[in-house]
Amino acid sequence: MYDGALATHAEAVPMNTTSPVETDGLFRWPDEGLARVPFRVYNDPQIAEAEQKLLFQGETWNLVCLDLEVAEPGQYRTNWIGDTPVIVVRDPVADRIRVFVNRCVHRGSMLCLEQHGKAENFTCMYHNWVYSLDGKLQSIAFKRGVRGQGGMPADFDITKHGLRELRVDIIRNLVFATFSDQLPPVRDWFGPRMVWSLERFFHKPIRLIGGYTQVLPNNWKLYAENVRDSYHASLLHTFFATFGLNRLSMDGAVEVNEAGGSHLSWSKMATDDAEGTDYASGGLRSMRDLAIEDRRLLKTWPEFDDGITHMIQTLFPNVFLQQIQNTLAVRLLVPRGLDRCDLQWWVFAYEDDTPEQLRMRLMQSNLVGPAGLVSLEDGFIGNAVQRTTRGDQGHGAIVEMGGHDVTTERQSRVSEAAVRGFWQQWRGLMGY
Ligand code: FES
Ligand SMILES: [Fe+2]
Repeated sequence: MYDGALATHAEAVPMNTTSPVETDGLFRWPDEGLARVPFRVYNDPQIAEAEQKLLFQGETWNLVCLDLEVAEPGQYRTNWIGDTPVIVVRDPVADRIRVFVNRCVHRGSMLCLEQHGKAENFTCMYHNWVYSLDGKLQSIAFKRGVRGQGGMPADFDITKHGLRELRVDIIRNLVFATFSDQLPPVRDWFGPRMVWSLERFFHKPIRLIGGYTQVLPNNWKLYAENVRDSYHASLLHTFFATFGLNRLSMDGAVEVNEAGGSHLSWSKMATDDAEGTDYASGGLRSMRDLAIEDRRLLKTWPEFDDGITHMIQTLFPNVFLQQIQNTLAVRLLVPRGLDRCDLQWWVFAYEDDTPEQLRMRLMQSNLVGPAGLVSLEDGFIGNAVQRTTRGDQGHGAIVEMGGHDVTTERQSRVSEAAVRGFWQQWRGLMGY
């Protein structure tokens, strides 16, 4: 832990060896590779702009909503793919989910302002151009002008103008969209192990039991790293270690997909053996004199028959799934400029839950989230990094726990392999 002592001689402390010497002003990844992450990636507006084009509007599948939100004909949900607003709607004629850029083709106004709703068409508020739910431009107000004066030229063909439609792919309850024509289907893009986990999460019908958006005061990639970082969970989140809910001494693994950017981190609480570890020696930050009076908070049941009590999954670039005991959630991270992002949460249960199980899930929901007992720290820590790195973009972070590679760690979660994996895929798409 930092003890307040400052080094007095710069040469006494070797500099973090990130080598970002960009004499031409261009950003280059340091020679050390994935074991170093230059702080500039969280602070450079040009990088943020390139991300919009190369990631969010590029070769990625982006979560836009859960299928339950657009189950009925005409039901819609709006959301964001990076900076681009989108409408997800169930087209009643084709009975399928379509995704459009939420922008009127006339002069570019946002078309649909509500987050959820049901519509027969989309009418732009600015000049009342009307679109059907398959995205076609249906009518233009005053197309023929007034009493033969004004209006659109006779050769303006409304069939040539419609909403920009994106490719859609659905896996279980998750609806994805992409701007790319070439990207393989979602299942192939994420790979078999990621699909296995999604099918485990959504192995039977779900229902939504809550949702909220958490504003995070940091660059989106700091949170993307945080969720891939199984090393921090029992260290930053004192509650976990204090009450033995999640410790690195439990049986578990970090599994990274082939592209690197998606991962699974799982553990089995029943296998905790802290003896001979840093937990047992008492050197870690936990509060041994605390006890929970209301034990209902910690009451759980085995959610799956595989013994896994904690499963965190990430899907590149910005989707997260969570099983923390019996709390189940999907999270989507939307960048809002350089140093802010919105984290959307869908909290879910299974349709066939007993009333008692539902009650226990709601009780456990107090653990996770911005007002919870465990993960409120994640909302703080990103800003703690953001604030220190802004002024010193010439250096970078050390990401060497578990080595230098992006490999699956079957034995241990004391590893930053999934963080390196994120950067591997990010660099590939960004061309750095
Ligand atoms: S901007 Fe939409 S109708 Fe004019
Ligand atoms: Fe965390």
